[in-house]
Amino acid sequence: MTSSARKRTAVLVSGRGSNMVSLLAAAADPAYPAEIVLVVANVPGAPALERAEAAGIATETVAHRAFSGRQAFEERLDAVLREARIELVCLAGFMRLLTPWFVDRWRDRLLNIHPALLPAFKGLDTHARALADGCKLHGATVHFVRSEMDAGPIVVQGAVAVLDDDTEETLAARVLTVEHEIYPHALALVASDRTRIEGNRVMTAETASDAASHRLISPPASNS
Ligand code: GRF
Repeated sequence: MTSSARKRTAVLVSGRGSNMVSLLAAAADPAYPAEIVLVVANVPGAPALERAEAAGIATETVAHRAFSGRQAFEERLDAVLREARIELVCLAGFMRLLTPWFVDRWRDRLLNIHPALLPAFKGLDTHARALADGCKLHGATVHFVRSEMDAGPIVVQGAVAVLDDDTEETLAARVLTVEHEIYPHALALVASDRTRIEGNRVMTAETASDAASHRLISPPASNS
């Protein structure tokens, strides 16, 4: 690892926080390049808050409903992050669209996870839509946030096979296991300055191992 100090990171949540838990677990290792110092919820009583507190992480609630408009909400959110000297922000099930004002202030320091292989299936109900469209591969994406929803340079994607007997629930569960793998991986890449953004592409200093590990085909060909 080349960078010295761990990057002070905040996780923004609205709900259960399973992706937040995966980030906290990774960051519990002192060798991990990001340190999660703050969890912020926009929904009072979000279950993620209790999970963060149980892990000994500072929490804040910035309830969007308590503000007169988006700008006032985001100014408070921004102030909370700056007071905590946050360097990187991870959206993890944060169900609030952020305006260009906020997104530009945190440009290239703001990550999101989306439960689909972007740019396919932006928005909601991604698993049901992947099933309805007959996809054989589905997955999840960690990307830098831009002001257009679910868009921005992709850092890491993970794919899973869609099985014939999948339901929305079974597919969501399979994708979630991949989410918990790729978010800590993506944050580590960004926090250790191993990513370089070129246009809409993110180049990483990851070195290729064997060519076979770069292929994911579903359904797999049978040997018969
Ligand atoms: C995840 O599927 C994430 O990809 C999406 O919202 C969900 C949040 O789940 N953005 P959790 O709160 O991290 O468990």
